[in-house]
Amino acid sequence: MEISIGSLDSLPVGEGRTFAIDGDMVAVFRTRAGMVHAVSAVCPHAGGPIADGLADNEVVICPLHQHVFELATGCSRSGQPPLRVYGARVTDTGEVLLSTRVPVDA
Ligand code: FES
Repeated sequence: MEISIGSLDSLPVGEGRTFAIDGDMVAVFRTRAGMVHAVSAVCPHAGGPIADGLADNEVVICPLHQHVFELATGCSRSGQPPLRVYGARVTDTGEVLLSTRVPVDA
């Protein structure tokens, strides 16, 4: 099942926003490269707020202890367990849809 979180234009470029999807807190990032990524909003290290982290086109850095996670795969580049990855896509009309399935290209 996919859930709309509104228009792509409502997501700031380069910053994260948190949404509740199926009871999970999901951090959504719109990158400067034009991609939308959705990962768990709760850091697996010690519960830090991933949506408040610094993000570029590839990674987000948790603001609490600076562990680094890949936005596309959720994998940590600093030895932590991975973030869960959620499906995210933009429709022809510019609506952003999230789902709990993992994207096939992740
Ligand atoms: S809680 Fe995220 S790095 Fe420690």
